[in-house]
Amino acid sequence: MIPAAPSADSRRLPAGLEPGLPLTALAPMQDVTDLPFMRVSAHYGAPDFFFTEFFRVHGQSRPEKHILRSITENRTGRPVFAQLIGEHIPDMVRTARELLQYPVAGIDLNLGCPAPKIYKKNVGGGLLRDPAKIDALLGALRAAVPGRFTVKMRVGFDSPANFEAILRLIDQHGVDLLSVHGRTVKEMYRSDVHYDLIAAAVRHVRCPVLANGNVTSAAKAAAVLRETGAAGVMIGRHAIRNPWIFRQIREQLGGRPVSVITLAEVREYVSRLYHETRQPAVPETAHVAKMKKYLNFVGQGVDSAGAFLHDMRRAMTEAQLFAVCDTHLLADPAKPFAAEPYPGIIARPNCETPVESCSLDTVTA
Ligand SMILES: Cc1cc2nc3c(=O)[nH]c(=O)nc-3n(C[C@H](O)[C@H](O)[C@H](O)COP(=O)(O)O)c2cc1C
Repeated sequence: MIPAAPSADSRRLPAGLEPGLPLTALAPMQDVTDLPFMRVSAHYGAPDFFFTEFFRVHGQSRPEKHILRSITENRTGRPVFAQLIGEHIPDMVRTARELLQYPVAGIDLNLGCPAPKIYKKNVGGGLLRDPAKIDALLGALRAAVPGRFTVKMRVGFDSPANFEAILRLIDQHGVDLLSVHGRTVKEMYRSDVHYDLIAAAVRHVRCPVLANGNVTSAAKAAAVLRETGAAGVMIGRHAIRNPWIFRQIREQLGGRPVSVITLAEVREYVSRLYHETRQPAVPETAHVAKMKKYLNFVGQGVDSAGAFLHDMRRAMTEAQLFAVCDTHLLADPAKPFAAEPYPGIIARPNCETPVESCSLDTVTA
């Protein structure tokens, strides 16, 4: 039987939570944007769209079961796009087709991961050096995906030299949504973001563009949208620090007062995150260690001296961790949680050092 031609509707983006407002998306983050984190995010004010961590594609790969759960058990009410990383076209097509059997909003191609271990295999951000390969990959995936096919990219490998050529390919192959992290691969995570290049992408492609990189607050989202003309924003690390950010952006863009979050609410968030992400088989100390990776971001908004971060990093047990939280978050529970990260308070280690993978273990711990 000849399959029915896909309808235009199957490629139109799902409606946002407040139609008419710019879109918001939680950026894909390996070891972070799993099902428990999506649930937590949705509790405080979901983004319009979720993206999975990347499914790694190679000759023997099958979609990772724990990542699949963020699709099959997604009860957030918001659509989730499945992200792929890889370069071998038959395997990428095979995996895209397999993922299309699940309730995905679309298939997303990773053209940005900056980890040397990844880009040296010519996948993720490594592909940005090779527009001819991107052309072939986009062509094959576009043909295989009748519904939404989306791309997340950086602006180049070590310079934006190929950026315009790649944007032309994005357009030629009818990509349905483009997320642009406004840094090159070599700029990793901490340089200034080239919002001017995101604006150039908005001018060059017909599909909606999500602006990504250092969208730290609702006010910053509004400024980035003004500067780039993008259809929406995609937010990663600052949605770990502040899971209320998507709701605050809708308030800001809708002309309503932006909710002020108190330290008592942050204490409740830490507790929810702890229990939601807890896996029974993982020992308490290991779970506390994992929590510190999230709390590295949360601590950027607690106090300007970094005292919470200092104490939190020394906690070994659940009781110690929550005692630190009580000391720093409940001493003055009505104190506002900073809308922007305090200057100079950064997650460790230095994110500009080369990392081995895109995961929290190496990017931010
Ligand atoms: C811990 C971590 C894991 C990441 N994993 C992925 C990933 O799986 N796929 C991807 O496209 N980008 C990944 N990224 C990049 C983010 O999606 C995003 O582009 C980047 O963090 C910049 O946005 P931000 O300033 O809002 O964090 C990761 C980033 C971090 C910090």
